[in-house]
Amino acid sequence: MSDDVRARRVDYLRLSITDRCNLRCTYCMPPEGVPVRAHDDILRFEEIVAFARVAVTCGISKVRITGGEPLVRAGCPDLVGMLAALPGVHDLSLTTNGLLLPRYAAELRAAGLRRVNVSLDSLDPARFAAVTRCGRLEDALAGLEAAFAAGFDPVKLNVLLLEGIEDELDAYVRLTLERPLHVRFIEFMPLDRRLVLGGRMVPAPAVLERLRARHRLEPVGGPYGHGPARYWAVPGAPGTIGFIAAISDHFCQNCNRLRLTADGRLRTCLFSGEEVAVRALLGDDEGLRAAVLEALAAKRYDRCREALANERAMSQIGG
Ligand code: 5AD
Ligand code: SF4
Repeated sequence: MSDDVRARRVDYLRLSITDRCNLRCTYCMPPEGVPVRAHDDILRFEEIVAFARVAVTCGISKVRITGGEPLVRAGCPDLVGMLAALPGVHDLSLTTNGLLLPRYAAELRAAGLRRVNVSLDSLDPARFAAVTRCGRLEDALAGLEAAFAAGFDPVKLNVLLLEGIEDELDAYVRLTLERPLHVRFIEFMPLDRRLVLGGRMVPAPAVLERLRARHRLEPVGGPYGHGPARYWAVPGAPGTIGFIAAISDHFCQNCNRLRLTADGRLRTCLFSGEEVAVRALLGDDEGLRAAVLEALAAKRYDRCREALANERAMSQIGG
């Protein structure tokens, strides 16, 4: 495949707008948290939008806002409005832990956000508190309710496959029977060698097997905006069950994404430490465009097995 064709199939930009978070998930951060960047080091909204505008000319048509936790950044709905107004952005979404959705869901929807992914790694209060180190399940569930109430569609739930998940599978399936919720079980990706995962990793194929032994599940097409996930559903259920198996599936070859860190560095691969500092190029559209195209041409599609040593936590890159 030529570099040009490769570059063109990257159509999805993930924008991390803050490295801060109101949780401390064990798989994402060390207990003391990670040192956050100074405000001046973080791109202003105008800069983020300037980057996205140029990225659209390089083939990007889908944009997701991530963090850290994006909603801890003041004015997130304003940024949504600015990005939604960009010609060429056909799909705008946000990944959140949901804690601040009761406060912001309606405003985000009004600003032009159509869909959200909510991270919810446990439906058990004690396990949720343990995984997030400081979160309350009821707050996250209130966020999920707020997402439905605001009319987001689809609403997807991100669930990390961590030790102990086996006991919760039925509860997640039950959710898909009750409402149009798209649960996605995600394999833990060992991105940061400094993090020692509490407990073992649970591979997606084993979970699928367990689920199929207990529930009638049929393969189905995914909800709108689906990437590497593969989906199943109980016949007649409004919701679906998906698997994002970065490790078991080796889906790097189909990667379509580009990432911008909160401090203005471009990353073409989650598993690679390589970054291109683009902040200094903002304002020079031609120079920026050349840098983006160059990074895309150099993007590798074979790194998922390497689990390279990374110097940044997920909250700093924008999962
Ligand atoms: N592997 C897989 N997923 C991760 N996330 C955070 N860290 C990891 C990791 N190491 C997920 C979060 C959230 C999304 C932004 O990324 O659970 O759902
Ligand atoms: Fe925050 Fe997400 Fe990291 Fe949990 S996984 S600490 S919610 S950034």
